[in-house]
Amino acid sequence: MNTSEIKKLDREHVIYPWVAQKPVDPIIMDRAERIYMWDTDGKRYIDFCAGLLCVNIGHSNRHVLKAMNAQMEKLTYVASMFGTEAKAKCASMVAEVTPGDLDYVFFTNGGAEAVENAIKAVRAYTGRHKIYSRWNSYHGATTGAIALSGDPRRAASEPGPAGVTSFFGPYCYQCPLGYDSHETCKLACLEQLKKQVLYDGPKSIAAIFMEPIVGTNGILIPPPGYMKGVRQLCDENGILLVSDEVMAGFGRTGKWFGIEHHEVLPDIMTVAKGLTSGYVPLGAMIWNKRLWDHFGDKPFVGGLTYAGHTLACAAAVANIEVYKQDNLIENSRVLGLHLAKRLEAIKQRHPSVGDVRNQGLWACIELTSDRKTRAPLAGYNDSVRKVSGEISKRLYAAGLYLFNKWDYIFISPPLCINQAELDESMDIIDKTLDYTDSLLK
Ligand SMILES: Cc1ncc(COP(=O)(O)O)c(C=O)c1O
Repeated sequence: MNTSEIKKLDREHVIYPWVAQKPVDPIIMDRAERIYMWDTDGKRYIDFCAGLLCVNIGHSNRHVLKAMNAQMEKLTYVASMFGTEAKAKCASMVAEVTPGDLDYVFFTNGGAEAVENAIKAVRAYTGRHKIYSRWNSYHGATTGAIALSGDPRRAASEPGPAGVTSFFGPYCYQCPLGYDSHETCKLACLEQLKKQVLYDGPKSIAAIFMEPIVGTNGILIPPPGYMKGVRQLCDENGILLVSDEVMAGFGRTGKWFGIEHHEVLPDIMTVAKGLTSGYVPLGAMIWNKRLWDHFGDKPFVGGLTYAGHTLACAAAVANIEVYKQDNLIENSRVLGLHLAKRLEAIKQRHPSVGDVRNQGLWACIELTSDRKTRAPLAGYNDSVRKVSGEISKRLYAAGLYLFNKWDYIFISPPLCINQAELDESMDIIDKTLDYTDSLLK
């Protein structure tokens, strides 16, 4: 089929997520290799978003494709009550790379289902109902996960389930409490959270869910001491801590998992995306020993037809092998240091850039209309003006695909990228920011 024939069928039948259908005009992708994708007209794009922050090992990795082919020849799927070599191996390899005693794996199809099951688990474990999560967060699109998401996408699903409470976590460039920096605030947002928990009744709260580094709401990196303070607050009050690693996990931040930057252990981790790098969908909820022991004598009342899908688990096993063999976690850390320098230079050159922040190969350029006041250029949920559409149009034309919204330009390439490729991509972004500078005049 040629491009216009595919497009015709696509626009007659495919419903695209999150957007009104009429204006949808997708680029039709044909193939992909490492950090590159080609559309059906042969135009090459750098995938500077790793799909949707999932293709961490890069596209079309031969080791993974070979392992998947071998698994498919033998067994693609069996009912979730049976054991398989792929499932057992996958769970044990996940347990090996996760920190501490996070060694027990409940498989799902993706991130939102991992979060849904974590909601069930913390309520069943504690016998409490309330769940805390932050504003500026995203946990998935299903009923419970979207209710936890302090993100405008939540609004369409309201009223949500009872018992979900939002709080302000650290967002140091746009501090909701009005501070300029975490050096002067003395972790004021942590103190506020402590008060909120006290007023709400600590014994009624089952868990605090957090992304260890906030992803689609701006790459918000908690300042030193914040996560330790949250862990302590949880321990003092019998509250569980859930680290949502769906985006931060599997090397994105230069460590296996985002929470490892904070030197605390959560009780539960949720993962997906980089677990299989999107070769086939797979997610997981991972328990520590406390939860494992608790559910030794009582059932965990949750399950999915495709839990522990054989082919998906085989893909995950091969993925974890690739992370290790190709030193991808270390590549993320080392190139992250180089990326930080490139970001700083971009900030110096462009007055429309207010802040840059990164951890490993995960970064955000935050735009501003006034560096002194930190006034936004686009604003929360594009409340001031829309600029993201024009930015992506220019980037696509230059052969770069990334995720951007509101004042945020996100950088999250496959972790197999090399420095020359990273530099080429950053040059394109650098040039594109002349457009946002021009809006200040
Ligand atoms: C932190 C976080 N949690 C959960 C999800 C939901 O994952 P999925 O889209 O696989 O359901 C996402 C998706 O982007 C995410 O970023």
